[in-house]
Amino acid sequence: MLKNFWYAICLSTEVKEKPMQVTALGQELVVYRNHKQQAIAMSNRCIHRGGSLSSGLVKNDCVVCPYHGWEYQSDGVCIKIPSYQEEIQIPLKARIDSYPTEEKYGFIWAFLGDLSESERPPLPLFPECDDPKYRKLWGDYHWDVHYTRALENGMDIAHAPFVHAGSFGNRDEPEVESYVVEQFEWGSDATVNLNPPPLSGLWSLLSKGKERPPVKTTSGYRMPNITRLQVTLPIGDFVLYVCHLPVSETHTRSLWVQMRSFFTSKLFDRDSMRRVIKIFDEDRQTVSEQRPQILPYDLAAELHVRSDAIQIDFRKKRKKYIDLGWCIDSQRIQSEYANKAVVIPSPARKENPNAWIMDEVPVKQIS
Ligand code: FES
Ligand SMILES: [Fe+2]
Repeated sequence: MLKNFWYAICLSTEVKEKPMQVTALGQELVVYRNHKQQAIAMSNRCIHRGGSLSSGLVKNDCVVCPYHGWEYQSDGVCIKIPSYQEEIQIPLKARIDSYPTEEKYGFIWAFLGDLSESERPPLPLFPECDDPKYRKLWGDYHWDVHYTRALENGMDIAHAPFVHAGSFGNRDEPEVESYVVEQFEWGSDATVNLNPPPLSGLWSLLSKGKERPPVKTTSGYRMPNITRLQVTLPIGDFVLYVCHLPVSETHTRSLWVQMRSFFTSKLFDRDSMRRVIKIFDEDRQTVSEQRPQILPYDLAAELHVRSDAIQIDFRKKRKKYIDLGWCIDSQRIQSEYANKAVVIPSPARKENPNAWIMDEVPVKQIS
């Protein structure tokens, strides 16, 4: 799990003025809207006695802890301690980590890290979301897999004829043509022509046995946890972005937006939704049975072939950020910090390094 990236932490429609809990990168966040409807994301742990802020309420845009009523404003600073009898200075350390937040493409994004604005990776771009020609639908999928396996599966071209033989994969034509990995700073794409399976039932009668043309398919990723699929059909384009939110080392919530430039009537939404869920359902067993559960750090640990070029590209990119010290060390959290609360550091820690008492999540040092 990598810190210092923008993460889609939930769907826009889920966040209200009542605080809710979101777990991301193994840590709990409290998320709510202020009176201007802006989304706020902060650490869920009250610095006083570790109360869960998402079980509290929102008052004057502050989140109020349910235990002793401490009030935290949206930058994480505590502005009220109700037990104080008179005007006593609130301690400098009465504060929690608050994360930069954006609302875009139907998701709430939080920057989970402590980099200053100029140092941060940009928010990922989903340009089709701004294009009115697409009909858009949002959803999510929970599965007991590590996000890196879910992510690789989402860009893996060669598995379709086997895992998705019941939908878009063609078991009789599993070959993957050579492709070029088109690299950008924060991700890559690969485009191939895939042979769709023959039509069956009524569709095959209607098409009078005509061969289906190959389907241009672009599969790719955006750092740190997003897959992008674009399928160009004779009737139009289908685009799917999936943000595989690492909830924990064993659980992923895949938040997605799908867009189609054909059958744009609402009447087709239910079927379109059903198809996306079916694809996840087809993947679920295979991905959850992979071992190790976490993608190996060592590039030589699994055997790669030519059709895996896009995944290899991702593994190299991930390694680069692990080597920068951005990988949260979950094993150490479980062993050394079992009786302590830890938190993903926020940018405010750098401005005021002595004002914090909760430990930052440790990062993995791999030599
Ligand atoms: S634990 Fe939150 S106010 Fe005491
Ligand atoms: Fe799949």
